[in-house]
Amino acid sequence: GAPVEVDISSLQPGEKVTVEWRGKPVWVIRRTPQQIEELKKLDGQLADPTSARKPEEITPMESCRNEWRSIKPEYLVVVGICTHLGCSPTDKFVAGPQPSLPDDWQGGFLCPCHGSTFDMAGRVFKNKPAPDNLEVPPHMYLSETRLLIG
Ligand code: FES
Repeated sequence: GAPVEVDISSLQPGEKVTVEWRGKPVWVIRRTPQQIEELKKLDGQLADPTSARKPEEITPMESCRNEWRSIKPEYLVVVGICTHLGCSPTDKFVAGPQPSLPDDWQGGFLCPCHGSTFDMAGRVFKNKPAPDNLEVPPHMYLSETRLLIG
């Protein structure tokens, strides 16, 4: 499939835009400062906090093997498909009855099929059916406001 260009100039903090790349939904999310800050606190609750597992498949870009899983902390680019059986997780679930999450929980993603949960870097929480973090597709910045995915 051809690479897909995305204009992120109007994306506000906390917003997400979905584009299609190779038949898959790719999310581009502009994280808020609070969401970025929270990523540091979650390591102990995650199955693979440093994205060490299956790096070539899940996090092929070395520049994204960090706590943000991204080139720039503010922007996350991930494939919006659960690594369990391929459902599409929903946005920014709130803590609700999940006592293991911090009081100041800043959101994440919930897979409706079997309940896997992911943080705002697409990292899967422990003891969930999904084995891996969400995939980070190859991408690059053409300018401050233009991304190329693929
Ligand atoms: Fe997402 Fe099973 S497909 S938890």
